[in-house]
Amino acid sequence: MMSMFSGFYKRSRQDRITLLYKERNLAEENLATLVEDTNLPETVAGKMVENHLGTFSLPFAVLPEIRVNGQSYSVPMVTEEPSVVAAASFGAKIIGRSGGFETYMNKRQMIGQVALFEVENVEKAQEFIQKEEATLLQIANQAYPSIVKRGGGARQLTVEVKEAFLIVYLHVDVQEAMGANILNTMLEALKQPLEAMSQGKTLMGILSNYATDSLVTSRCQVPIANLALNKADATHLADKIAWASLLAQVDPYRAATHNKGIFNGIDAVVVATGNDWRAIEAGAHAYASRDGAYRGLSTWKIEGDNLIGEITLPLPIATVGGSIGLNPKVAASFDMLGDVKAKELAAIIASVGLCQNFAALRALVTTGIQSGHMKLQLQSLALHAGARVEEVADLVAALRKTAHPNLQAAKELLKDLRS
Ligand code: HMG
Repeated sequence: MMSMFSGFYKRSRQDRITLLYKERNLAEENLATLVEDTNLPETVAGKMVENHLGTFSLPFAVLPEIRVNGQSYSVPMVTEEPSVVAAASFGAKIIGRSGGFETYMNKRQMIGQVALFEVENVEKAQEFIQKEEATLLQIANQAYPSIVKRGGGARQLTVEVKEAFLIVYLHVDVQEAMGANILNTMLEALKQPLEAMSQGKTLMGILSNYATDSLVTSRCQVPIANLALNKADATHLADKIAWASLLAQVDPYRAATHNKGIFNGIDAVVVATGNDWRAIEAGAHAYASRDGAYRGLSTWKIEGDNLIGEITLPLPIATVGGSIGLNPKVAASFDMLGDVKAKELAAIIASVGLCQNFAALRALVTTGIQSGHMKLQLQSLALHAGARVEEVADLVAALRKTAHPNLQAAKELLKDLRS
């Protein structure tokens, strides 16, 4: 069956908003936010950061449809880069026809650490602290009772010796929050008791962004026959995508770019939902190097008649806290997504990363990235060259005919168009 979102990008901006409003049952205030497209008021922006000067805009877009765990979602994306949204839409469409993405998330907890140094007898202190786990968990929970009332709280405490440090790790169920304030408050409350128990000194107590207790896996299975119109082309494409996946496992130069492509999608959704993209990037890159070598976060392999894609990464995504409640565009994003909870949002984000990666690899091993990317990049190039909105279409058409559509060429063509 043809999706109602097919050809979405060919509609006008107003039509796209109307379609989303109807299909995703957006609230009136979020419809107004999308239509009016205003920036954060000074009263809000001025309280969010220091030395505030104004606001800084980026394009707010949508991946119209992706299927995750049998559900259809429209996913908000904030990005400055042309072809990212097109590629994600393309990947989601091809993979959606093959059943979409299935995801798995075992638990969603955050980890924080208190690092102790100059501990007289580390082995003895390690054993003692571990024995006192229940007491320490209680101290942590008393420091942040509201998360306990919400059904979360400190769950586990582990202790490790690393070089000169005795490190105490606290594992906390933070429910729907990102958890930095919760963890940092708990960890600071543990410092003094840990100093007393270890007879050492605390260096710091801080949340870790290496969120290995919030791992998400997304997987898709695409019949190879769905990849191209003829069987030989489809088989050739699947084969090359599997080779591209292997390259990203063995060469860090390729792995970094492979993962950058994944983050084209992931970051765009993380920003649109008001989450902390630095935290997500830091955790995922640490995970990509977990065995000592930096590798691609996703893999593609052929199993029988199917191409199987899989990605696993830490995604401690929040639906409350931080700037999430302050930005009306973030409220519109959540409305578009169907007011998802944190685990569901993490599942969607991992799937967007995987379909973004699929589209990039498909382009790379066939036409090369330039043809699709440049097709969409030309509009930015035209604006960059100084074209007025009404001149952009003509300049893009002229740029398409040139062998090297760069800024210099765009400026010269614009001069010709105006003469
Ligand atoms: P195409 O085959 O020309 O697309 O690919 P199409 O015209 O046949 O359209 C197919 C579907 O793509 C459409 O379905 C849309 O979903 C979507 P429909 O709605 O018609 O049913 N689509 C669009 N959506 C929004 N706006 C558009 C648009 N065009 C198509 N204008 C496409 C064109 C760009 C999708 C393809 O060439 C592609 O996927 N290229 C990859 C582009 C990419 O990855 N860009 C990211 C920047 S490059 C980079 O940073 C990452 C990289 O280095 C990572 C790595 O190395 O791994 C590449």
